[in-house]
This record gives sequence, structure tokens and C-alpha cells, in this order.
Amino acid sequence: MLQPILSLTWKVPKWLFEVISWGKSFKSNPILGNYVLNRCGLHVFRVLVAHLLFRFRLFLLSPLVPSHYRREFIENGYILIENFLPKEDFYKLSGELNRFEGPVREIVEGTTITQRIFMDSEQRSRAQELKKLVENQFLNHLMRFCSSKNRPPLFYIENLCNHANVHPRPDPQRDLHVDTFHPCVKAWLYIDNTSDENGSYVYVPGSHRLTWKRLKWEYKESLEACKKGEDRSSGRYWDGSFRVSKDDLEEMGYVEKELSVPENTLVIGNVYGFHRRGVALKKSNRMTVWMQARNNPFNPLFTPFPKATARAFEGVWKKALIRLDRRKIESGEQRNFFGYLSREYSRKSTDSK
Ligand SMILES: [Fe+2]
Repeated sequence: MLQPILSLTWKVPKWLFEVISWGKSFKSNPILGNYVLNRCGLHVFRVLVAHLLFRFRLFLLSPLVPSHYRREFIENGYILIENFLPKEDFYKLSGELNRFEGPVREIVEGTTITQRIFMDSEQRSRAQELKKLVENQFLNHLMRFCSSKNRPPLFYIENLCNHANVHPRPDPQRDLHVDTFHPCVKAWLYIDNTSDENGSYVYVPGSHRLTWKRLKWEYKESLEACKKGEDRSSGRYWDGSFRVSKDDLEEMGYVEKELSVPENTLVIGNVYGFHRRGVALKKSNRMTVWMQARNNPFNPLFTPFPKATARAFEGVWKKALIRLDRRKIESGEQRNFFGYLSREYSRKSTDSK
């Protein structure tokens, strides 16, 4: 009797904190997953407030980025820049990442194996070209603006191994989805050329903007996500990363676009917009420098100390990763090892010439 009461005394404040921050799981948070509250508009209210504050912070940070990039980001939901680095610098970086030996986290997502190395300051000290990229002022300003938080992102090397899993299962990243209920960004500097051979990034331009139809869809999905047990129509609803059907996409007037890009292209995407991993037809690799920036959407302010905040976030995230690792390794979803990324099916520009 005492045990459940004690457990509730720390769980309730945690759930409440999640409601006023980045919490998105309808399953693990009974407040977010409460049908009556969502019927009264809890989810839609959170979406609305998060978007208003995002636009407010973007406005304040606008001096960081030239106006045409701001327009591109606000209108389409992503920025795409080809030939991002000078050629010579890019090839040095590509060579370094292809040869980099580090702590790899490998997860299975359907038929895809995703390998990532978290490039914290310790790893960066062994990767001078990546360190230069992290210190690139233009990239720094773009990411600080697009995240709306004035904070540089976390950096990873990401390497996809398509058709590498011997037990074919659907890859959840191949379905059109949103990452969460609020605007936030991920970015990729492509080390390989991308096409439908190794899976281009697919984005639905304009789908990051709130329209009446989109709000109605959010409301409908939030009620669906509250369903429990057998009533739940899709296994993916519970985590708050809503999947969108073809019919709903059409109803909202959206059309997806495949961003098949050459190596050395930078893509920064607002992952509140619908996106997915494109189809990969062949056994192939796709390597990127992968950047991620996610913050509390309900804090109207941003940090005045970008560097120090980035350092602090990196430290906190490093510890959180150890905890997450333990859980995923135990469930068999992940394996960790120190070594090289698998690059036997990489597509360099010389392949296509
Ligand atoms: Fe995603």
C-alpha cells in the first residue's frame, strides 16, 4: 500500500514537469495520455504554444542568419546548401570520418542497422577535421538560429547500413512521421551521395507550419494516441511521434519531396514537419555528420552563453546516454563496440562519374 503512494510522490511531479517541457509519450505519462484532457485540447494547446514561442525566439535570433536562409527555413521547413565546405576541406573530413575508430552504438531499425558515434569533446580531440566543422562559424550560426535556442547542437557520425539486418522487419524510420509535437531541428552533412540506392532524406515542404487542417489532424491523432490496449490502431502512436497516412497527407494538401543530394550537402530540417528515411533499394551505406538540437519548447528564452550551454548539454547528454545504453543493450536492441564504422557499400562521387 505504502509502495504505490511513495512511487506516486515522485512520479506526479515528473509527469507535471514533462507536460510543461518536452514530454511527448502518451503511454508513459498518464497526464499527456489522458483522453479527457486531450478531448479538452491539451495536446493541441501544447502544439500551439510551442509554435508561438518558437517563432518568437526565431524572430529575436534573426540577426544570426542571412534573410534568404531564414525565409527558406520558415517557408519550407528546411535549409539545403550544396557544396557546404570547400572541396579540399570536405575530402579531408570525409577521409578522417571513414578512418575514424571510436565508440560505436549500433541499433537495429527493421532491415537497417544504424551506427552512431557521439562526437563529444573527447572524441573531437582525436578528429581535427570534425573539430574544424564544429567550430565553423556559419554552421554554428545556422544551427543556433534554426534551433531557436542559440545553442550549438550535439554532433555524431552516423552511418546507415541498408539491408544489413538478416531478420527483415519494417524500418519505422521509413514511414512519414513527425519527431515530436514541437519544432526542433536535426541536420545532416552528407559524406556520401544520396539516391534511392542508399535512401535519400524525404521531407514534406511546408508541413512544419500550423494550418487549421493540421491542427484538426493533431487533435484527431491525440485522441487516437490515448487509446489503450487493443483499441490502439497503431503500435507507434504511444510515443508521440505521430505517423501520417497517405490519405491524411493528401487531405492536408501536402506533397513529399525526395532530397537526393550530392556529398558535401548540408540539410537542416525542422522535424516537426513530416519526414522519413527514403527507400534504399540496394545493400548500401549512407554516412553523415548528424546534428541534433532539442530543448524545452515552453521556455520563451534562449541562452545568452551558447558555448558554455553546449558544453553543459554535452555533459548531461553523455550521462543520459549511458543510462539509455543500459536499457537498450539489455533489450537486445543495441550493441556497443569500439571500432570502425561499416563502409563496404559507401557511395563516393567517384562511383557515379
Ligand atoms: Fe524522424
